[in-house]
This record gives sequence, structure tokens and C-alpha cells, in this order.
Amino acid sequence: MSRTADLHADVGEVLLTEDDIRAKTAELGRRITADYAGRPLTLVSVLKGSLPFMADLMRQIDLPLRIDLMEVSSYGGTATETSGLVRIIKDLSASISGEDVLLVEDIIDTGLTLNYLVRYLRGKNPASLRICTLLDKPARRLVDIPVDYRGFEIPDQFVVGYGLDYSERYRNLRFVGVLRPEVYSEAG
Ligand code: IMP
Ligand code: MG
Repeated sequence: MSRTADLHADVGEVLLTEDDIRAKTAELGRRITADYAGRPLTLVSVLKGSLPFMADLMRQIDLPLRIDLMEVSSYGGTATETSGLVRIIKDLSASISGEDVLLVEDIIDTGLTLNYLVRYLRGKNPASLRICTLLDKPARRLVDIPVDYRGFEIPDQFVVGYGLDYSERYRNLRFVGVLRPEVYSEAG
């Protein structure tokens, strides 16, 4: 049987269990709810990796909420590294001018993708723009990103699950785990 036929077997160490993620998402939701205190909020998330986090986080926020989704892809790079050159595949569907916006991300690695997105969104004149990320890999940061809400700091390892992919797989795992290096070295 090929390795990629068994999603679970391809994952080594489990970094975050379903319970860890659930507890953290609830905590972040409480903080966001308190910080915005009844003000309307627009959550903008970036497909596809942030989809599970966005879906869970929004249900932990008790505010008048609007959501919007963008999708970006990076030119070049590899399956495990971003190039930083970002192309917008799906843009916002409504104006965010004058709105309080919270950008919801799955992971910040080099920060290049987010750096681009923050500049892009600032150009749309929101009243405020903050960043919420489930995972942060500070060891690999190339640009300084002010993170307002951070779920977990993780070591410099390539992780999959709970939205995160390797070659579009593993997004449906309920936990976050370290992909066995054999899986991506075999693929070449
Ligand atoms: P950055 O531009 O280097 O910060 O990378 C951001 C994007 O790269 C994330 O939104 C993910 O799609 C992807 N990425 C970075 N690290 C990982 C990882 O460990 N596993 C899966 N995807 C990752
Ligand atoms: Mg990816």
C-alpha cells in the first residue's frame, strides 16, 4: 500500500489534538468577543487552509459578524515552501471600507503571504485590521508581522491536518501533526 493511501500513517508526532484545538479556539473566541465588545466585526479568511479554523472560530465569537473569503496562491515555491509572490485567485466579495476586520489565518511561516495580504487589505481602508492565526512558526519568519491573536507557537516542522495540506492532502485530519519527511522526499 502506498504511504499516501493512509493519511494517519503518514503523520509522525501529533502536535495538537482535537481537544487542544477546540479549547484554544474557544479561548480565542472569548478574547475576540471581549476585545470588540459588541462592535460589528468582519472576519476575512484565506482559503483553503484556514477553512476549519474559520468555521470553528466564528462560532466561538459572540458579536454581530460578517465573513468574507479570499483565496491566494503563490507563484513558484515548492509544496512545502512559499515564494512570497502572491496571486489573488478569489477576492473579497464585499467592501471592507470603514469596517473592523480580523484576518483569520491557519499558519504564519515566513510571513510573506500574510505581509502581502495585510498591505492589500489596508489598501481597502478598513477602520481597523488585526490578525488571528491558529499556528505560528516564528523560527522561519522573514518579515515582521504583528500578530494580535495567536493560537499555538510550533517548532520549525512541516505540519498537516485541520486544514493544512501537503499537495492538497491531509486537510481533513482532525488534529495537527508532523508529516513524516519520507512522504515529501519520496514524492521528489
Ligand atoms: P508563509 O507565506 O511562508 O507565511 O506561508 C503561508 C502559507 O504556507 C500558509 O498559509 C500555508 O498554506 C503554507 N504553510 C506554511 N507552513 C506550512 C506547514 O507547516 N504545513 C502546511 N502548510 C504550510
Ligand atoms: Mg498549502
